[in-house]
Order: sequence, then C-alpha cells, then structure tokens
Amino acid sequence: MAVIRVNIRRKPIKYEIRIGEGILPGQDFARFGKRFVTIVDSSLENHPNTIALMHRLEKEQKLANLPIYLPGGESLKTPEQATELGRFLAREKIGKMDHRLIVVGGGSLGDLVGYVASFYDRSLGFIYVATTLLAMLDAAIGGKNAVNIPEGKNLFGRIHQPLLVVNDVSWLKTLPGYHISNGLAEAAKMGVTLDEGLFDLVTGPHSLNSEFYMTVIERSGRLKVPIVEVDELDSGPRNIFNYGHTVGPPIEAATDYKVHHGPADSVGMAVEGYLAAKLGFFPWEALMRQNSGLAALGLPVRLRDVYNGTAERLIDFMLVDKKTRDGKPYFVHPVAIGKVYRRGSQVAFPVEIPVIHECLTDLLAQ
Ligand SMILES: NC(=O)c1ccc[n+]([C@@H]2O[C@H](COP(=O)([O-])OP(=O)(O)OC[C@H]3O[C@@H](n4cnc5c(N)ncnc54)[C@H](O)[C@@H]3O)[C@@H](O)[C@H]2O)c1
Repeated sequence: MAVIRVNIRRKPIKYEIRIGEGILPGQDFARFGKRFVTIVDSSLENHPNTIALMHRLEKEQKLANLPIYLPGGESLKTPEQATELGRFLAREKIGKMDHRLIVVGGGSLGDLVGYVASFYDRSLGFIYVATTLLAMLDAAIGGKNAVNIPEGKNLFGRIHQPLLVVNDVSWLKTLPGYHISNGLAEAAKMGVTLDEGLFDLVTGPHSLNSEFYMTVIERSGRLKVPIVEVDELDSGPRNIFNYGHTVGPPIEAATDYKVHHGPADSVGMAVEGYLAAKLGFFPWEALMRQNSGLAALGLPVRLRDVYNGTAERLIDFMLVDKKTRDGKPYFVHPVAIGKVYRRGSQVAFPVEIPVIHECLTDLLAQ
C-alpha cells in the first residue's frame, strides 16, 4: 500500500491518502470514532466492497453504523439534496462530538457529502472512500466540495478536508470504461500542467490494470498534495488545477449537465490550449499533441461536438465563476506539455472578454 501524507500548512490538519488493491476491508475505522453514518452510492449497494466495508465496521470493529444509499451522478449535487441529507442527520441525532461520516462513491456523491459535512453541526469529520478513478486521483484530494445551482456549477461550495482517503483500486473493476476515460482526463490535465511523463503514460499505450491505476493515482496525488498543502484556499498555485476548468464547468452548466465532467474538461483543455496558443504561450504542435492524447482516450476535443449554443452563453457562465475577478475570467496558459506560464506564484491570468469571445467563435465554427 502506498501512503501520501497531507499536511495543510498554517492549520493543524493532517491526513493520509491510502492507495492499494484490496485495502478497504483492513482499514482501522475505530481510530476515527465509534459511530458512523456511511453514505453509499446506491449503484454500489450490493458491491462486494460495500458488503466487506459494512462487515468491517459492524462485525469486526463493532462500531455503530447507519448505512444510507443515495444515487450517484451530477443530478445529486443540489442544495435541496444537501438540505435533505442534513435534515436526515438531524432527525437521526447525529452530532459532531459522537459521529463521523463515511462517503462511498465518486466525485458527485463525494462533493455532496463533503459539502454537508462542512456545514452540518458547524463541521463534521468524514472519511472519503473513493470508488471512481476521477475521485481517487483528484476529487477526494484537497477538501473541495460543492453543489450546483441553476446559475452555475459548484457555486455553493466549501473547503473541508477529509479525515482519511481510501483509494482501493478494486472498485475500478466495475467502473464503466466511459468513467475510466473521465478519470484519465483529469490525470492528463495534471500531465499537461505539471508532468510530461504522466501525460505520456496516460495518453500512450497502456493496459487498464490495477498496477496502471495505482501508478496514475499515486503520481497524480503526489503532484496535487504539495500544492494543496501550501494553497488550501485556491488563491495562488492551486489555480493550476483549474486548467480546462475555466471553460469545462460552463459547458456542463450550459448543457444542463448532459455533458459529463470528463468530456467537458477535455474540451475545456482544448479551448484553453487554443487560447494559450493564440496568445503565443503554447506552441501549436504542443496543442496538437495534447489534443491527440485526449482523443486517444476517447475524449472529445472539438467544442462543437459537445456544445451547439452561443459563445455569449458560455461567457455568461464563466462570469459567475470563482475563476473570474474584476469581470475577467482567469486562465492557466501551458507553455509546453508539463509546464505552465508563471509569474512568481501566480499561475492564472486574466483574459479580456473580446479575446475569449473570438476564440470561442473560431472554435464553434470549426
Ligand atoms: N472536489 C473536487 O476537487 C473535484 C475534482 C474533480 C471533479 N469533481 C466533481 O466530481 C464529479 C464527477 O465525479 P465522477 O466522475 O467520480 O462521477 P460520479 O461520482 O458521478 O460517478 C459516475 C458514475 O459511476 C457510478 N459509480 C461510481 N463508482 C462506481 C464503481 N466503482 N463501479 C461502477 N459504477 C460506479 C456512479 O453511480 C455514477 O453513475 C463532478 O461533479 C465534478 O465536478 C470534484
């Protein structure tokens, strides 16, 4: 088992990210409390890992455990669902002194439960048992959580670090290939921005086996953790992980979430890479290499393939996002595969609306 230790600077917050195969049933949950509410993605209710987890909690460690099952997927991430979950916890007399939450699911359920844990009883501890590749290598790391409102994606959100992250790759045996590609999109993003070797590993020929997953998850985690440690609140270097995400979430919101996070971010990288190339940062050959790597993963790279609305509508969604300041959306500009433009610790830069509009119009016409 590999362990990545997270140590948030300027706060007494430390936790571990554990990565391995078959590691879930051996975890010592008793170390974190005596009473748990385990919130499971309902598609995993009868999964052998869920059954093994319940056995571990209830029979082996003899802990009080209240399991509940909620459907996974983006449609779960609403303020209404968050309130409903919070009210359920209150009716069950769940309190921060006595209880911990365990979330068993992907980035969607993780975002919802992390969000509720951040405000219920003024913050409740939670353990993240990630079940998708995207959650293991990205969403479960760093404490970001959120729900969506009609005006934009992730607009109600907080930062609340988990007590432990368990990345058991045996979950991935049942994860559909489409969602494996979505996870690899996030790994490719980390490759484009920070690690050329990771980009090549993910987009080159590989077998989808446990060893490959563990390598990609650990390598992505080791890139993300040191940056989260120094910039938990996403005000400086952590912005680097927003590459593809200035445009991606607006695509999701503008299509009513019919386009999933992975494809939206893949197109987001293609658009933001194009912008960086037009501004003279990203060589055109590097942009082509990025896009063919993403396409090799089965991900879309043409804006028109996922979105047929106007440039103005996408810009409207960008303007309510946290990546906009003083009316200007901020973008990360790669300068090569594995490297971004930096000025001191600044990695995201404002771009004027007419420039963004021109890029989107170009790409919508291609
Ligand atoms: N908080 C963060 O830092 C962060 C980072 C990246 C993405 N996200 C968020 O993550 C969400 C996407 O998460 P996701 O891609 O994990 O999708 P998801 O959680 O919606 O799961 C995708 C689908 O797979 C199913 N599923 C989950 N685990 C499974 C398994 N082991 N076997 C079979 N099916 C399984 C789910 O029921 C769902 O239908 C988006 O809302 C995105 O905004 C958050």
